[in-house]
Amino acid sequence: MKDQTEPLTALARQPSILIVDDDAANLASLGKVLRREQLDVREASHGREALDLLREQPASVVITDFQMPGMSGLDLLRSIRAISPETEVILITAYGTIEMAVDAMKQGAYDFVVKPFKRHDIVRPVRRALEKYALIEENRRLRNELERTLGVREIIGQSPLMRDTLELVDQVAPSSATVLVTGESGTGKELVARAIHSGSRRSGKPFVAINCAAIPDSILESELFGYERGAFTGAVQRREGRFERAHTGTLFLDEIGEMAPHVQVKLLRVLQEGEIERLGGTQPIMVDCRIVAATNRDLAAEVRDGRFREDLYYRLNVITVELPPLRDRPEDVPLLAHHFLGKYAEKNGKEMLGITSEAMTLLASYKWQGNVRELENVMERAVVLARGPQVTANELPTGVRMGSKSTRTLTIPLGTPLEEVEKRLINETLRITKGDKRLAAQMLGIATRTIYRKLESWGDTE
Ligand SMILES: Nc1ncnc2c1ncn2[C@@H]1O[C@H](COP(=O)(O)OP(=O)(O)OP(=O)(O)O)[C@@H](O)[C@H]1O
Ligand SMILES: [Mg+2]
Repeated sequence: MKDQTEPLTALARQPSILIVDDDAANLASLGKVLRREQLDVREASHGREALDLLREQPASVVITDFQMPGMSGLDLLRSIRAISPETEVILITAYGTIEMAVDAMKQGAYDFVVKPFKRHDIVRPVRRALEKYALIEENRRLRNELERTLGVREIIGQSPLMRDTLELVDQVAPSSATVLVTGESGTGKELVARAIHSGSRRSGKPFVAINCAAIPDSILESELFGYERGAFTGAVQRREGRFERAHTGTLFLDEIGEMAPHVQVKLLRVLQEGEIERLGGTQPIMVDCRIVAATNRDLAAEVRDGRFREDLYYRLNVITVELPPLRDRPEDVPLLAHHFLGKYAEKNGKEMLGITSEAMTLLASYKWQGNVRELENVMERAVVLARGPQVTANELPTGVRMGSKSTRTLTIPLGTPLEEVEKRLINETLRITKGDKRLAAQMLGIATRTIYRKLESWGDTE
């Protein structure tokens, strides 16, 4: 599939320019200037011809004279907006028409150049318009790629590490084998557990999840196995446990590393015998559940330290799917970022075109500690804060903008006078921001002028 799309992408990104002017001499000289820049240039002597050429083959940038007989530059701009909204339009105006050109900018023109102009007066805006066009194209390409990936599975990942992982997921899903999903917090363990269920023959049957860390030890047992009426005080009526509810389907035991030892014993027995017993019950009940367990702990180490039963570990660990941390697969960041951009744009009713390349560079180089969940949160915040159609570096949290530097620490002995603490903290933060006081103030949650005042009071004019 990739082989088919690559040349198309290259074609779409080939910068092409269309110039429109009723004055043949102007048209020729502008064409010469731009061809010398190695650009692919077409020429039209009036608006209609320009539109015909555009319909034949789109252009990245159209440069048009403002005053032309018949269709004016402004009319042409409106038509281009309608038939080829991604094309950027630059207007060439005479002095007398500057106001109209400004009005044209409001209607979506990229820029205008006043006659007479020098070579670089036109080359510079053309280059910038081409960059913008390429950026939007790139965003569109990523979105298309996303749609293709999403069509198959909801799990996004094109990096070699994720491809291997997803291949394993596809391989194990159809069986009924017990799977242990491991990975740091926010790497997508639950997503994978659900994918395993939906890729199995049990997909039409229940998927029941239980988070062993979120349920108190005393209740976990009755939650898993259910109870009979009168089994304990408060058991006023019989209740099915999660095992029974997941019968014929999949039971997802999340955060299994947190399971108390006495529940581990019971779980082991169920896995060995395929039967459960409700609390206070006398009859074993046959259950058929596929077990998928997840943990962010190193279970082997937990076994070594005696916190997790070895026999249970081997029962669960028939197949391990290990999710790599996001910082080890930066190639996945652009796709994920776009996925979340789309998700939160829709949720917030915002039209978002993409992410600037500066912002994307920051996202891709950040050492994600909270993994995909952290990236998702960052993108949600960015969409909410974005003032324009693109997420820029301004909408990214300071930590992401500063890179890994923000995780630097400062050790201060207990009992240090507060004023001294404040001084060292502010100075260290300023060192990290390379003296940018506004940014430092933002990181510290204080007003910029407070920093200035304090520096002054410490006799530090830097
Ligand atoms: N590869 C991925 N593609 C798309 N979304 C993802 C991916 N990985 C994670 N997510 C999203 O990130 C969020 C966190 O994922 P999930 O809850 O599966 O992580 P987890 O490993 O179970 O985390 P925790 O250990 O904190 O429970 C979810 O909203 C999930 O949809
Ligand atoms: Mg989870």
